[in-house]
Amino acid sequence: MSNAVGSYIITGAAGGVGAAAVRQVAERGANVMAIDLDAGLLSRAVEAASGNGEVVARVADVSSEDDVRAYVAEAVRLWGRVDGVFNVAGIEGEFAPSGNASTENYDRVMRVNARSVFLNLKFAIPVLVDGGGGAIVSTGSHLAWHGAATLGAYCASKHAVMGMTRAAALEYATSGIRVNCVCPSAVDTAMGQRVSEAINPEAPDLGRQVLIDQAPNERLARPDEVAAAGVWLLLDAPHHINGILIPVDGGQAAA
Ligand SMILES: NC(=O)c1ccc[n+]([C@@H]2O[C@H](COP(=O)([O-])OP(=O)(O)OC[C@H]3O[C@@H](n4cnc5c(N)ncnc54)[C@H](O)[C@@H]3O)[C@@H](O)[C@H]2O)c1
Repeated sequence: MSNAVGSYIITGAAGGVGAAAVRQVAERGANVMAIDLDAGLLSRAVEAASGNGEVVARVADVSSEDDVRAYVAEAVRLWGRVDGVFNVAGIEGEFAPSGNASTENYDRVMRVNARSVFLNLKFAIPVLVDGGGGAIVSTGSHLAWHGAATLGAYCASKHAVMGMTRAAALEYATSGIRVNCVCPSAVDTAMGQRVSEAINPEAPDLGRQVLIDQAPNERLARPDEVAAAGVWLLLDAPHHINGILIPVDGGQAAA
């Protein structure tokens, strides 16, 4: 059993938001299991994190039942308990209007963004219950509430994350488990860059400006800001905060 302040699983840990979350949770002295498909970026993210706990990298597919079952079980084997999971992994998928969208893209986006949250809830919650409580934070989006043209599957997946968050929050409220969600608008990460390029393939800077103009504070979210909101929900939020979705969007949800 470790002496760290807790043990956490963070998915999408090689990406912009996930890597920032790994650094922030490690700095708090917790053990972190960092999960991603991208082995190269994942080892860089883990090397950049330090604290009094252990930080381990595991290459895994969050949409695979076998992979999620295995990494949750391994975290229990390593540290004796799991105190929380931060579901960050996600993809934007292809950009196409609904009448011209591919079924393969719908299935892929739903697997990576929604099935992954289902699986992490399914395998982590019994472990949290055994340990007397904990927290699950998932990453929704501004598009958990709103639509965006050409991103139907992505919107569906993030609405699904909102629904699963609320259902699980109700189910385990008396077991000391809080289930919440962080909902960014455009973030300055690799995904934000890909979205900018999709909006304006000839001039991605103009695509980026479209995203900036959507935010009342006229900038993209920084990955560390999104991570900090998730880490607050994971480690620090009062226990009476449960089943909520926190916008991290420069005020966009207020409009
Ligand atoms: N970037 C934005 O503009 C934006 C806006 C709203 C919400 N979000 C959400 O924030 C989260 C983080 O996005 P980001 O901006 O850091 O993107 P990112 O592309 O930088 O990181 C996403 C990470 O998820 C990993 N990943 C993808 N599929 C995976 C799988 N099957 N198994 C394991 N890992 C997988 C990728 O390898 C990548 O490292 C996502 O859920 C995204 O939908 C992002």
